[in-house]
Parts: sequence; structure tokens; C-alpha cells
Amino acid sequence: MTHMVLEVKESLEVRCNQMLRNMEASLTARDRVGIQDFVLLDAYTSESAFLDNLRKRFHENLIYTYIGTLLVSVNPYKDLDIYSKKQMDTYMGVNFFELPPHIYALADNVFRTMLSEFNNHFILISGESGAGKTEASKKILQFYAVSCPSTKLLNNVRDRLLLSNPVLEAFGNAKTLKNDNSSRFGKYMDIQFDHQGGAVGGHILSYLLEKSRVVHQNHGERNFHIFYQLVEGGEEDLLRWLGLERNCQKYSYLVQGDCAKVSSINDKSDWRTVRRALSVIEISESDIEHLFGIIASVLHLGNVKFEADVRGYASLNNNQEMHWVSKLLGIPTQVLQQGLTHRKIEAKTEEVFSPFSVDHAVYARDALAKAIYGRTFNWLVNKINESLVNKDSSRKTVIGLLDIYGFEVFNVNSFEQFCINYCNEKLQQLFIQLTLKSEQEEYEMEGIEWEPVPFFNNKIICDLVEVKHRGIISLLDEECLRPGEATDLTFLEKMEETIGGHPHFVTHKLADQKTRKTLDRGDFRLLHYAGEVTYCVVGFLDKNNDLLYRNGKEVMRQSKNAIIKHCFPSSEPDSKRRPETVVTQFKSSLVGLTEILMSKEPWYVRCIKPNDAKQPGRFDDVLVRHQVKYLGLMEHLRVRRAGFAYRRKYEIFLQRYKALCPDTWPNWKGTAAEGVRCLIKHLGYKPDEYKMGRTKIFIRHPRTLFATEDTFQVCKHKLATRIQAKYKGYRVKEDYLKQREAATKIETCWRGLMARKEREKRAWAAKVIKKFIKGFMTRNQPACVDNSEYLSYVRQNYLTRLRDNLPKTVLEKDSWLTPPPIMKELSQLLKKLYIRHMVRKYVRGIPPQRKAQLLLKAQTSSMFKGKKENYPFSVCRPFVDTRINAEDISIKVLQMIRHEHIKYSVPVVKYDRNGFRPRLRQLVFTQKAAYLVEEAKIKQRMDYISLKGVSVSNLSDNFLILHITCDDIKQKGDLVLQCDYLFEALTKLSLIANKQNCTKVVQGSVRFDIQPGREGFVDFKSGQESMVYRAKNGHLTVESTRTKSR
Ligand SMILES: Nc1ncnc2c1ncn2[C@@H]1O[C@H](COP(=O)(O)OP(=O)(O)OP(=O)(O)O)[C@@H](O)[C@H]1O
Ligand SMILES: [Mg+2]
Repeated sequence: MTHMVLEVKESLEVRCNQMLRNMEASLTARDRVGIQDFVLLDAYTSESAFLDNLRKRFHENLIYTYIGTLLVSVNPYKDLDIYSKKQMDTYMGVNFFELPPHIYALADNVFRTMLSEFNNHFILISGESGAGKTEASKKILQFYAVSCPSTKLLNNVRDRLLLSNPVLEAFGNAKTLKNDNSSRFGKYMDIQFDHQGGAVGGHILSYLLEKSRVVHQNHGERNFHIFYQLVEGGEEDLLRWLGLERNCQKYSYLVQGDCAKVSSINDKSDWRTVRRALSVIEISESDIEHLFGIIASVLHLGNVKFEADVRGYASLNNNQEMHWVSKLLGIPTQVLQQGLTHRKIEAKTEEVFSPFSVDHAVYARDALAKAIYGRTFNWLVNKINESLVNKDSSRKTVIGLLDIYGFEVFNVNSFEQFCINYCNEKLQQLFIQLTLKSEQEEYEMEGIEWEPVPFFNNKIICDLVEVKHRGIISLLDEECLRPGEATDLTFLEKMEETIGGHPHFVTHKLADQKTRKTLDRGDFRLLHYAGEVTYCVVGFLDKNNDLLYRNGKEVMRQSKNAIIKHCFPSSEPDSKRRPETVVTQFKSSLVGLTEILMSKEPWYVRCIKPNDAKQPGRFDDVLVRHQVKYLGLMEHLRVRRAGFAYRRKYEIFLQRYKALCPDTWPNWKGTAAEGVRCLIKHLGYKPDEYKMGRTKIFIRHPRTLFATEDTFQVCKHKLATRIQAKYKGYRVKEDYLKQREAATKIETCWRGLMARKEREKRAWAAKVIKKFIKGFMTRNQPACVDNSEYLSYVRQNYLTRLRDNLPKTVLEKDSWLTPPPIMKELSQLLKKLYIRHMVRKYVRGIPPQRKAQLLLKAQTSSMFKGKKENYPFSVCRPFVDTRINAEDISIKVLQMIRHEHIKYSVPVVKYDRNGFRPRLRQLVFTQKAAYLVEEAKIKQRMDYISLKGVSVSNLSDNFLILHITCDDIKQKGDLVLQCDYLFEALTKLSLIANKQNCTKVVQGSVRFDIQPGREGFVDFKSGQESMVYRAKNGHLTVESTRTKSR
């Protein structure tokens, strides 16, 4: 089964997807104009519906439409922005039906099929002249040039493949009435790919070059482009060397059509392109020289004029042209001249030259020009092939591009049209064999009942043309070769005789009345598969013979021009045997082509010409309808729609749709066929909608599959969600496991790191502790390595601690931090310093008044500290200047002592010397004396000089006894006083009287003078209660409570 049939059906499946997808998103409204694939056309048998769709799309500049995998292309006659690199990228590697129809989609599909199936393909591009075949083939080639892998080597091949086009177009294309760049030869080009898809080589076959154009052009047509390019674009030097003038009008071969200049053609720039291309395809400079020599010599040849001599024979007078031809072809002028004016006739033993008439000479000249050009063209094709040849012998796959003339119907159709239309019949046969027959074979193979597709098999026409002995070709050859007077008309008669009854053959003579009116006597009509064509037999024999007189060939063999030498080899069959006729050669080349194509998978591009005026936007219904017909598009569509629209291997079908049936989802245990049966039962397929083959299911209507596909699309979303959820879960789990693993790893590393750090720390700590212990053990030894660190630590530690624990006040000096033994000395020094510092700070901070006060206190301290029990209580009580203000002292008293400055006064209790009765008195110290004052009376005055001393007890009473020197008996004796401000008063006294040492602290009793010579005693005791009384022994007993020292 060929790939194509599979494709037809598989394409439907893909199309279902594509339709849905297109609906969903990708297509713009414009892209959706009409139907992108005729297979989906409801009225698929209606030519009008077909045309409507084509027209609708054409007016939206949508020039491409599919019939399955066949591409219909309508020539827009304007540049559309659909061939950019971006467009190529868009179509590269994308499923055929996913994007709007495009030639790139087809090219890409062919390429990818070739790569995946590793087989050979060809793309047949057909259509009438000007329909866009050559443009289409160039677009395909450009697409491959961009999309194939590229290396330096491959780029070389790519460039040659691309540049072979302008060269072949220059030599093989010409302006015709139908097309300004009409290919005047058929072209088949193989592009060879390696298994990675790199274009590694190529090969070109050319068919039936229209040589007659070299010598004759119809009005409005031109010769081959290369002549005009050379004359218009050739460099001055070159033209001079070739003996040419830069003026096409000078050459009779260029002016017959009367349109040497065409606005749409720029010969000059084309010349530059061709020149460059010739170098790229590695044609040597000397070959190029010879090549242009030949082109120029053809032009010169065209200008050779013959004149009739007196006998009516042709003679050559303008030797100038002959001179150039001779120079350029490297043939002696004489020989050339002889060759053009004489025919060589071989008699039995000798050769005789028979002169030509003028007409004959012109005929011979033109024949020579045609032969030279035709053979040079073949040489050029071979040269290009040499440069494209791939030397690597590993297996290649190829894509062939066949840019061949489509069916041609003119008002007058001649030998060329006959050949061309015969070629199209052959290609139609190929199509039938590759598609229809293979379809039938598949049904048989699958055991499906064959339902014949009605189609016209044109084998009958092919046979009419080519069958041996009775075919038109055989008859024509026979007529050409037979001796005697054979003419075009005898050929016609022969046909009438031999094939007169054939249903596809009519002549004027054979036709019925009605048909006869449409035929001339010299016409014959063939009923081709694509329509009727009437051929005029005039020229058939001549063109078929393509006779070059024998000596013409011989003359050429003498050429020194390398190309001519090569084209007219001396090994050519002897002229005694007639060469093959043109039509036979053509027939053989078509057989060869058919063989080439039969071994490959076919793809089709059908080009349509929308109008005859080469105008954009014009869609001529009649013209297009005609082409649709003879391109066989309706037939093609019918074949695609006939029989079963869709077929698929059970495995694949089940795999795709198994989700639609609970029994087959997710897995089917039995055979695929059983699975499919189960599946379609569940889907409710009706018996006439499908057939089960041996390995495949066949579905009759696209709608059945579309419905299944619709259901699948809905189901797919649900499944997709589920799969997505599963997948997401799986991914998250995977991520989680990864993260967990990473976390564990990090943790391990971290723990290891920490453990190592800890170990180091411990090792360090052990070392430090060891050192510490050693230091501690040797701390009392003289400083050495072992203890130096320890000791400095101890020092530092002690000093730091000391800093933080320094006594806050002088009073806390005993809280000095105990130093380690090594710091003892230092500590003492520091303590001393610090205390001194504190003291100094304290002292500096004391105000003068307080200082005076403290001096007093110091005095008190020196007098009583550690001596008198209640002294400590006095320490905290500040001294004042006086205890009695001046205003509280009687004015009289003040009057009396006004010459003496009162320094201090204090209330006291005076105990009588006799009876020890207590009396409240004031004790006033002046500069000179102390006074005991009772209100306004001074009771006793004691000069400080007479003050012998002062006694106080060591206990906690406040008694003081002032001992006074009594020189005079009248004088009162010592004073026994009690003063609450005992320490203050005594300190003041000692200072005022300047008697620092006069105070005595005594224990037990104090003796005192009541009067001079009479003594009394005061006994001091400590007891439970403080009391003062006169004891039985007459002593004043002062009992005071014991106070705890602070
Ligand atoms: N796809 C296209 N886009 C734009 N213009 C195009 C396209 N195809 C063809 N044409 C135009 O139509 C002209 C004729 O096209 P082309 O030469 O390919 O025709 P053809 O089918 O090869 O004819 P012939 O049988 O005479 O060789 C081109 O020169 C170009 O101007
Ligand atoms: Mg062409």
C-alpha cells in the first residue's frame, strides 16, 4: 500500500484535531474564509461549490487550499507577504493540518515523512503556463534551503541547488504570451538528503526543450532570456570579443516577436545573477567563454543571409557574420560555408555535395542553430548535475520536484502540444496507479469488500498514443522514416486508416456532421481525459524529424569550441542510421520519468491561473473552471471522499480513543481488534458506518470520526486534568523527596561541621584547662613557661575583678578584694594608692565649713576615741557654733562680758557642790574665760589659765568636772556639770582655751574640790538605769546605762 492512501485517511484524523484546534485559537477570521480543505466540502461533487470556495479564498489572498494532502495553488499575480523567514519558521516541524494551507506545510510534511520513513518522495507540480509551477518549485527549494541542517559543505550544495534555477531559467525560459518567464522545458529535480535531513546533492532531468523558439518566435514572444541578457548586460569587452552589438534589434533571431524589451524583465540585472551563478556552480571560465561564444554564434548564424545564384542555389555573400561564427565555434569559414549551402549525398562509392536552394539553406541554418542551442542546453544541465553530484556513496533519500507543463489547449495546437498533453496523460496514469489502484489493493489486503470508485481510467488514451505499431507515435515515426513522399497529410490519412474507429480519436473525415463543423481538414482531435484537443497536423513530421543534415553534424565535429565538440561527438551513430525521432525520444524519457516516479511517494501541487491578463485580484470563472476540470481536481476530490474516508490500524485507533469506553480504559487486555469492537459498540457506531478489516478499522464518513473526535476532545480535557493532577502530585512528591534529601544532606554536613567545631573547642578547652591546672600547680614557683599564662590570667582576672569590686567609699576600705598570693604586694600598693586617691577625692570634695567641723570632730576623736563609752554616738551628731543664741543670753550678762567675744555657749546642769542639787545654767565660753550664767547673773568665772583640767568618766554619762585652780579660799571650787553636748562643749573648750590635753577620762571616781581644801567625789558607775544621786557616802553617784559600742 502506498503511503498516499494512508495519508489520505490519516490526514482526516489529523484534520479533525486541526479543526478543533483551529476553532479554539490559532486561526484569524481571515484564515477561516471558506473551507481550507475541499474534503470537508459538503457538496463535494459540485464544481460550482468548488469554484465558490476557491474564489472566496482567492479574494482574501488565500491562494492555497487542500484536497487532503494535495495542494491547490492559485496564482495571485502579486507579492504576498507569506514567504518570509518567519513564515518558514512557523511551518517548520508543525503538523500538516495545524496551520492554514501553505506550500511550506506541504514541503515540511514531505521532508518529515521522508526523514521518519526513510523513503523517497516526489512533488508533482502541474498547471498551465503561467499558473505558478516554477514559482512553487522555487518556494519549496527555498524552504528546504532554510529548514535543512546547515554546514559549510551543505551550504555549498544548497547554494548550487538554488543557483541552478536562474541559470536554467536563463537558458530554458522565455517570455510567451501567457507568461513572461515561461519554462520552455520540463524539469525534474532530485534533491538528495542524508539521514539527518541535510541536502547533500541533486540531479536534474530536462524534458523537451522548445528549440524552435531559437529561430522563431510568435508575435509578442521572445527568444530564450539568455540572448537578451548577453546583449543587454554583457560587458563591453565581452561583446567586442563576441562580435556583438548592444542592440537586440540587430539580430533577426531576437526580433521576430517584436518585443525584445519587456517591462517586467530586467535583462541587465538578470545577466549579473546568471554570471555569478555560473561561477558558483563551478563552470570554468573557459567553459563560460565557450558557452557565450555559442550563444553569440547562434545570433550571428541568424543573421546569415543567403542569396540565390544564377542557378537558383543558395550562396553566401555576407562573410562578416560567417567570419564571427567561424571564429566563435572554431570552424574554418570554408567548411562552415560549405556545410550551410550544400548537402552531402553518399552514393555507393563516393560522396557528392548537392547545393541547397535558398529555402533549404535557411532551413539548414535554422536546424543548425536549434541543434547547437538544444545540445548546449543539455550540456549545461549535465554540467549543473556534475556540480550537484554527491560523491558520498551512503544511502540517500530524495525528494523530487517535477515542474512540468500542464495540459495545453490553444486555438491551434501543434506537435509540441501533442507531446505535452501526452505527457499529462501519462502523469494522470501515474496518479491513477498510485492512488486509486493502491486504494483497491488495500481493501483487498484488509479483506474488505471492494466498492469501486467511479473514475475514468485514461489508459485507453495512453494506448491510443503510445501502443506499438498502432499508436499515433508509431504511425508518426513510420511516416517520418518511410521512403517516398511522406507529408503531414499522409500521416493524417494513415491515422484515419489505422485508428479511425477509436472512441477518443476524431478527424474531419471521421466526424459526424455536427462535429465536422468544428474541424479543419488537416486537423485531428483527441478526447483527452481532461478534455478535447484539436491538433493541426501541419509540421508534425518536420518537428518530429528534427533533421539536421548530416554534413551539418560533421561540420560541427570539427569545432574547436570545447562545448560544441562535446555536444557533437565523433562517436555519434553514423548518419546512415536515422536518429530516434523527437517523439520517440520523448516517449522514452517519459517512460524513464514514470519509472523514477513510480518508486516514490507522490505529493501534488496543482497550480491554477486565475486570469489570462496576469492581473492580481481577477478571478475568471470560466478559465478557472476549465483548469479545475483538466487538472482533475474534482476527480481527485471524489476519490478522496469515496469509499472509506478514514482507516487506522486497530492498535492506533484503540490507543487514541480507548478513553471513551470504560471497558477499554485504561488498558485493554485482549487483542486490539476486539478492543476496537468493544469501543465502537460503546460509541454506538451503526453497521453501515464502518468495516472491520484484518488489521484496520475503516470508517465511511468523516462525520462519524468527527463525532468520535469531539467526544474524545471533551474526554481528553477531563483526562488531562486528572493526569495533570497526578503529574503535579508526582512532581511535588519528587521535589519534596529531593528537598528532604537535600535537607538531610545539609543537616549531616552541618552537624559534622558543628561536631568538628565542638571537638576542636573541647580539645582547645582541655588544653586550656590542662595548662590552667599546670599553671595552678606551679603558681608559686618562679615564673616559667608552665605558669606564665596562668599567672597572667590570675593577674588579669584579679585586676578585672578588683576593678569591678573597688570600695565605693573610704569607709569600705576593708572590703578590699583578697588578692592571690602573687598579687599581695601589688594589691597592698594598689590599695594604698586607691585609698589615698579616695581620700584625696573625698577631701577635695569637702566644703570649708565641713572641713572645720571635721577638724573639730578629729579633735574630739583624739580626746575621746576609745576612751569614753558614749563617744561613738556623738560622732554622727554634727557640731554647731553655739547651742544658745546671743538673744537667749541675758543682756546683763552680755553687758558684763562685752569686752570678750563669746565663742560658744551651751545649757548645762550644774550640781551644787554641797548637796548636789541640779541647777540649770548656761555655760558661756569667751576668748578668755568660761562663765557659768544663771539668767542675768554670772555665777562663776573661770579664767582659762586657772583651768587645771577637765574630768569625764569613761562611761556613757554626760558629766564633766571642771578643775579650777583655787588660790583663794573665797573662790568657788571645781564645777560638776552635766551637759548634753558634752563632746562638743569640751572640744570647743579645748580649742578656745587652747588646752588640748586638759581633758582626762577617768574610771570610777573623780575627786574634786568643793572649796579649796574640801574635797568631794563623783562616783561613776554603770547600771540598769541612768540616775544621779547622792550616795550614802556623800559622793555624787552617776549611774549610766551601758551602751554597746558600735
Ligand atoms: N506564489 C506566487 N506569488 C506571486 N506571484 C506568483 C506566484 N506564483 C506565480 N506568480 C507570478 O506568476 C508568474 C508565472 O509563474 P510561473 O513562471 O511559476 O508559471 P509556470 O506555471 O511555471 O508557467 P510555465 O508553464 O509557463 O513555466 C511569475 O512570474 C510570477 O509573476
Ligand atoms: Mg515555469
